[in-house]
Amino acid sequence: MKIGIIGSGNMGGQIGRLWGQAGHEVMFSSRNPKKLIPLTEGLEGGYVGTVTEAIEFGKIILLAINYWAIKEAIAQLKNSDKIIIDLTNPYKWSEKGGLERMIAEDISGAEMLHNELKESIIIKAFSSHQANSLTKHHSNPRTTVLYTCNDGYGKQVAETLIEDAGFAPVYYGELDKSMDIELFGKFSNKLMTIDEAKAEIKK
Ligand SMILES: NC(=O)c1ccc[n+]([C@@H]2O[C@H](COP(=O)([O-])OP(=O)(O)OC[C@H]3O[C@@H](n4cnc5c(N)ncnc54)[C@H](OP(=O)(O)O)[C@@H]3O)[C@@H](O)[C@H]2O)c1
Repeated sequence: MKIGIIGSGNMGGQIGRLWGQAGHEVMFSSRNPKKLIPLTEGLEGGYVGTVTEAIEFGKIILLAINYWAIKEAIAQLKNSDKIIIDLTNPYKWSEKGGLERMIAEDISGAEMLHNELKESIIIKAFSSHQANSLTKHHSNPRTTVLYTCNDGYGKQVAETLIEDAGFAPVYYGELDKSMDIELFGKFSNKLMTIDEAKAEIKK
């Protein structure tokens, strides 16, 4: 698949590399693309570009920016008809220290994105996993990544890409259940095998 990475930091950089190592074509983007060249090392289908170039490049977009840049990203993605894997969490650093929510308490980041980008398919995944757990915990048994999505083809894409990043994909439901799999949700920072995840979902 051809994947544009918007926000190639702790999360986007690592997941993009995992997909590149699995044979997907990946364009890492930044406001300063040159600094991302090391991310493409050893990846046959690895490229760097601006955010605009990454959106042109990938039918699939990994949205992995800091949330304070979300409005800008939404404006760039408007009317672009993409499959967007959203791993952002709607928080910023507060001046007093700690995290401050940037959207209403009763809506998830995924639903907010879906409302803004109706023409795109939204998948929510990876938001409840810490960046430092991404490359450590997916050997045997593999760590589960729960995802939400309202679309049949989107679900197929999510299954393939979560699997190809080395995790066990488990469908958690439609986007209105995304709050549970975002930061501070029911599954925040929970590393589970597939059996543990299925048992937890049934509770
Ligand atoms: N870190 C974690 O453990 C973790 C876990 C789960 C989810 N998340 C979520 O994932 C997202 C990214 O977190 P991170 O830790 O990967 O952050 P990060 O390392 O700071 O990377 C974020 C990237 O966003 C890009 N960015 C910032 N402003 C931008 C703008 N105006 N336009 C385009 N790109 C912009 C930056 O790229 P340039 O400066 O190169 O342009 C930066 O590389 C956040 O929403 C966070 O809540 C983080």
